[in-house]
Amino acid sequence: MEIDISKKNNINHKNFEIIKNFFTEEQLDLCKKYIKNLYANKKFVYYDSEKKKENAGCWVVNHFVGRINILLNKSQIPPEFLNLLELHRKKINNNSVLDSIEIVVYSNLYGNPRLDPHIDPPTKRDFMLNIQIDSTLSWPIVQHINDNSVYHVLNNNECLPMDVVNNVHWREPIKINDDDYVVMIFAYFDDESITPYPKDWYPHPPMWKKNGVEIRKKFTEQIIENYGVDSDNFNSIKERVVKNTSKASFYNPTRY
Ligand SMILES: [Fe+2]
Repeated sequence: MEIDISKKNNINHKNFEIIKNFFTEEQLDLCKKYIKNLYANKKFVYYDSEKKKENAGCWVVNHFVGRINILLNKSQIPPEFLNLLELHRKKINNNSVLDSIEIVVYSNLYGNPRLDPHIDPPTKRDFMLNIQIDSTLSWPIVQHINDNSVYHVLNNNECLPMDVVNNVHWREPIKINDDDYVVMIFAYFDDESITPYPKDWYPHPPMWKKNGVEIRKKFTEQIIENYGVDSDNFNSIKERVVKNTSKASFYNPTRY
């Protein structure tokens, strides 16, 4: 069936800029303590596509993308952090509402960290605040905006607002060391006035067709180059991850 591109979302934020010094030093410390607390108190489960809802509020170990993530609703977010998000929300779109936040930690402990080109699943999502809490890496985030690939490298305590349902986005494949890690917070904002894309636009909308094949080809080549030809043998990756994570002290590569 032919897809109607005119159904493209009417809000398209094009000129997001990186927000530097997102937290004060004190807030950033509190944030790290909060994450440490989550490490200590929340259950770890292995990724299961059938159990997404059931596993909300747990650390999900996802060996397909080399990361763990935990999804938290508003009631689980510290009030100081909610206030700060509120400030930025108002500046970007006063009609938006905070839906949830997600904390993500990438590390070789959890597989081969990667983020393949995609848009987020079609919803009333308006934008996402992509906040780098702590990282040992300069790992480019790429957004495909109006047929151009735009590269951003975040420093710690910087935030990149992103239009994740309109713009295909990914991370440049890189080989990382075993002591490298990246800790991010994603804050998701929705807008009731948005008409979601058709479900089958996920993960690659029709406007991606023009450049997507070439970009995907290059992405795959870089994955093979950095992770070796076995990178898609996810069974063997899972075995390695289970072995790593069975030692509790290895869950937290950041040592907070
Ligand atoms: Fe995404």
